[in-house]
Amino acid sequence: MAEATLPIVRTVPDLRAQVRGWKAQGLRIALVPTMGALHAGHISLIDLARRQADRVVASIFVNPTQFGPNEDFERYPRNEERDAAALAGAGCDLLFAPTVAEMYAPGFATTIHVGGVAEPLEGAHRPTHFAGVATVVAKLLIQAEPDIAIFGEKDYQQLQVIRRLALDLDIPTAIIGAPIARAEDGLALSSRNAYLSPSEREIAAALNRVLNDAAAALHVGEAVAKVEGDGTAALVQAGFDRVDYFAVCDADTLAPRGPGPLEGRSRILAAASLGKTRLIDNIAV
Ligand code: PAJ
Repeated sequence: MAEATLPIVRTVPDLRAQVRGWKAQGLRIALVPTMGALHAGHISLIDLARRQADRVVASIFVNPTQFGPNEDFERYPRNEERDAAALAGAGCDLLFAPTVAEMYAPGFATTIHVGGVAEPLEGAHRPTHFAGVATVVAKLLIQAEPDIAIFGEKDYQQLQVIRRLALDLDIPTAIIGAPIARAEDGLALSSRNAYLSPSEREIAAALNRVLNDAAAALHVGEAVAKVEGDGTAALVQAGFDRVDYFAVCDADTLAPRGPGPLEGRSRILAAASLGKTRLIDNIAV
């Protein structure tokens, strides 16, 4: 049997024509936005999309505006052929892979700034990041007009920012969160894991372990400030070079929790670096 191939569109009119054709047949459309370098975490999003919609559109666009000046835009891994094969194998129906010029025409001058939930944590450490994410995701949702769009809890703050954005701008797409796919030792799958040396890869597993320990400590009534301090120290002890944050937050607004015992639905979010590689992870409490 011939291998499945995946139709690819590169312009907004071609994308809209395909999606509108499906909608005219009464089909429900899911969009799964990505930057490519696909791994099993991305594929789990495609699987979830397939269960919730009739047609699944994936996008691959390494979005320059969400990378800071000293970040990894240039070296971000790109392999469209391999990604397209993985998407076809997972049952994706269409790939939208626009050029930078298609997404940002000459004279492009509009930026979406999300306040509140986008401000702490990643927002504090990567000041232009969420404006880039919010702008490109708003464009993708307007371009594809999907009924649902799926985002991973791996990037938990990003998911909350996109929920806020869709609500505030009356974008009629349901935003759906998907659970974090992990390696056997607990490390959250990420395209950036490819940057880790073998010894860094071993240390990286501590991130999820320390988050699990912190969640357990909160469950038995340990104070928030102590759990945050212990978590940061444990990451440094494990070999991380820098911890940007290890924070217990309100699960919806991401506002910091008070220092004492925990109340309400919370999330612990962490970002830490090994050499040049910055990893993020989070856990529900
Ligand atoms: P990217 O990092 O390629 O991730 C695409 C989607 O896959 C995001 O929703 C992300 O949360 C999800 N994902 C990544 N690793 C995952 C894992 N281990 N388990 C579950 N989901 C995972 O996030 C982006 O791209 C971009 O910011 C984007 C939203 C496409 C806007 O440019």
